[in-house]
Amino acid sequence: MIIKQSKYAVSAVKESQYPQDDLPEIALAGRSNVGKSSLINTFLGRKNLARTSSQPGKTQTLNFYLANEAFYLVDVPGYGFAKVSQKKREQFGEMIQDYLETRADLCGLILLIDARHQPTKDDISMYNYALLLNLPILVVCTKMDKLKKNEVQQVQSRLGKYLDLNHDNVTVLTFSSVTKLHLAELGDWIEDKVSE
Ligand code: GTP
Ligand code: MG
Repeated sequence: MIIKQSKYAVSAVKESQYPQDDLPEIALAGRSNVGKSSLINTFLGRKNLARTSSQPGKTQTLNFYLANEAFYLVDVPGYGFAKVSQKKREQFGEMIQDYLETRADLCGLILLIDARHQPTKDDISMYNYALLLNLPILVVCTKMDKLKKNEVQQVQSRLGKYLDLNHDNVTVLTFSSVTKLHLAELGDWIEDKVSE
């Protein structure tokens, strides 16, 4: 998929603020700091369109990015960040659930998991919750550039011990925003979902 054009569209915390133009959307979810905003930038070929940070908790609203005037990527606040207050966490949870469960334009969910570690409890809950949404799911194992050669082969099998990946609607991809590993495959998956 060739990205000819991209722009930041809008940030939202509730439905009335979501885009109104009925274009297809792909949401990105995952633990704070896992690389959601970085993946958006890499995919769109933009350096700093989605703001990234080495400090977790950077993204605090649903941020909509419009690609090729044709579809949106939606950056969702990360979960599992200890320094966010309980109250904030509940508000985040509600905002994210509202969006994922009611948004008719949503046609796929990308769930990012840090390839260096085994999935956290939150990752496992998020994945199991995602299965209930009845959406195509792309599990992206991020930061592959940080793995040693002998670890690379083990990522998918280790993941399979924690997540039941055997579903027709689930695809798994290893990825790196630094080396752009599997960027083309990511594009193929997104193209397929937004054009259905
Ligand atoms: P929140 O907005 O807090 O939920 O985080 P996020 O998931 O959007 O993470 P973000 O993209 O801001 O990346 C967090 C940190 O990880 C930044 O320092 C990035 O540079 C780094 N990072 C992201 N992807 C990769 C990757 O593929 N490889 C390496 N080495 N670093 C990465
Ligand atoms: Mg972010």
